[in-house]
Amino acid sequence: MDLKKARQDFPTLQADARQKQIIYFDNACQTLRPRVVIDAIQQYYLSEPACAGRSMHHMAAEVTRGVDQARTAVAKFLGAARKEEIVFTRNTTEGINLVAHALGLHSGDVVLVSDKEHNSNLIPWQTVARKSGATLRVVPSRADNSFDLEAFEQALEPGVRLVSLGYTSNLDGLTIPAAEVIHRAHRAGALVLLDAAQAAPHRKISVSGLDVDFLALSGHKLLGPSGTGVLYGKYKLLESLDTFMVGGETVATSTYETCQFLPPPEKFEAGLQDYAGIMGLGAAVKYLQGIGFDAIQKQEQLLNECITTGIQDLPGLHLIGPADPHLRGGVVSFYMDGIDAHRIALMLDQMAGIAVRSGQHCVHSWFNAHQLQGAVRASLYFYNTQAEAETFIDNLRKIRKVL
Ligand code: ALA
Repeated sequence: MDLKKARQDFPTLQADARQKQIIYFDNACQTLRPRVVIDAIQQYYLSEPACAGRSMHHMAAEVTRGVDQARTAVAKFLGAARKEEIVFTRNTTEGINLVAHALGLHSGDVVLVSDKEHNSNLIPWQTVARKSGATLRVVPSRADNSFDLEAFEQALEPGVRLVSLGYTSNLDGLTIPAAEVIHRAHRAGALVLLDAAQAAPHRKISVSGLDVDFLALSGHKLLGPSGTGVLYGKYKLLESLDTFMVGGETVATSTYETCQFLPPPEKFEAGLQDYAGIMGLGAAVKYLQGIGFDAIQKQEQLLNECITTGIQDLPGLHLIGPADPHLRGGVVSFYMDGIDAHRIALMLDQMAGIAVRSGQHCVHSWFNAHQLQGAVRASLYFYNTQAEAETFIDNLRKIRKVL
């Protein structure tokens, strides 16, 4: 990858686009967007701001074609067997809620999650379990926060209907051994949903190769527009799911009493969609494939190694997750004794325009269980540079010195 050239694709990184230069280390929240994605969004609003799948005029036909092309691009990106396995959503959260509400959980069913799930992969299950009488069981991680296959195996008792796990953690960047998890879950008769919000931007995923049943991701974490997402599901499973959001474009016909639902994905895509967002998402996955996951991981590892080495000796600093940066992808999460995480984040921003996330990162359950107030998270992506990593280290060292 030609880093200098790649950075030029991102208007936000150009000095003339902003008054103040930024060092954007909040990529696990949302990434920046390349020009091709912004162009795709703009193209929709400038040229054919119409509906897909309804009207017969040429603008509508163009939008229908654009949505179809984006669905095909995402299916290819994920290695899905067919494009109808791709449901467009607003985000990972919506995809997980869709499965949680449409699976038809009932009393006696067990859902397994880990002890470090994002709220989006915890609260939907808590809510549905409460309503359905199903049981939510939490599998503990090892002491270093890594996935405990033995504990998982023990939890895989009869009655486990679904295993729903974060593929890569937004807390510490650790990735679970997904293939092995899926193999063991299937052997025990359970389905598997992967929350791939933090995995899909950083690694090649083949849903067919993994044999995963459902996988949810967010577009805005992989260079796509805000508020776009995807739920992948094996076609037969999508067919068997109940509906979630219903209304316009989900049915073939209706009477005053009943209706006939369309097959997937239409039965899940109710109402007017974010067509500009969907087309932007199509452009994002194509762009990402052009960059390539080998180059992405190489740069993230270089930067994670640099930052980990540069900060780990700071007095009172505790890294979350394993010490080895190669196990934490693009994430460096830490807390410092005696300094509030938000204060560190604000100071980094004020001192050098460094954008990080601080707090509990929507993983309140883990922080509560560990009796921790919060952490600072630098989350890196391929367009970040070693010079930025060094500026981060220098400023964090300054902060530790003065506080
Ligand atoms: N899940 C996103 C994050 O971790 C919002 O920042």
